[in-house]
Amino acid sequence: MFSKTTLLTVLLALSIASCTSKKQADEAAKNSPTPSEAATPQPEVHGAEMKSVELTTPLNKEWVSAGKSIYDTKCLACHKLTDEKLVGPGWSGVTRKREPVWIMNMITNVEMMLEKDEEAQKLLEQCLVRMPNQNVTQDDARKILEFMRSNDGEK
Ligand code: HEC
Repeated sequence: MFSKTTLLTVLLALSIASCTSKKQADEAAKNSPTPSEAATPQPEVHGAEMKSVELTTPLNKEWVSAGKSIYDTKCLACHKLTDEKLVGPGWSGVTRKREPVWIMNMITNVEMMLEKDEEAQKLLEQCLVRMPNQNVTQDDARKILEFMRSNDGEK
């Protein structure tokens, strides 16, 4: 069950996201589904908790660019690629600061992380906004992770 404050926080998050990035939203709208598709409610994706993630070197270039496209549509409204905070923390250095599995769970299981994980809770205290579930599959989360590694200078 969600308390009133939780709901308010989520609404606040959504409204902040929408006013900081009207232009991005307009661009996203161009690519969004037709009204009839949009009317069908999409089931929320809640990934099972990930226990391990395998990293490979060199980076998978296809995943990096696929991850970048997902970032552009689903994350850019709240996350910069520098260390500057927008709604959420900037991503620069995130792959050095966090374990890959932590990042993957933050992307696919944000509700669980905010409930249970101390580091995630600290971020919430700083940002005062709950990151909404972005309906990202584990495969897509892995591509975003590859993009984050590339953003952190890995080759
Ligand atoms: C509506 C704003 C919003 C959107 C959209 C959003 N996030 Fe977040 N994100 C946050 C906030 C706020 C936090 C800090 C934790 C909290 O307060 O819930 C966060 C934290 C994170 C963190 C942890 C960062 C760190 O420094 O440890 C990761 C990783 C992350 N988000 C990934 C993503 C990905 C990937 C996407 C897109 C698929 C995304 N986020 C979309 C708001 C957002």
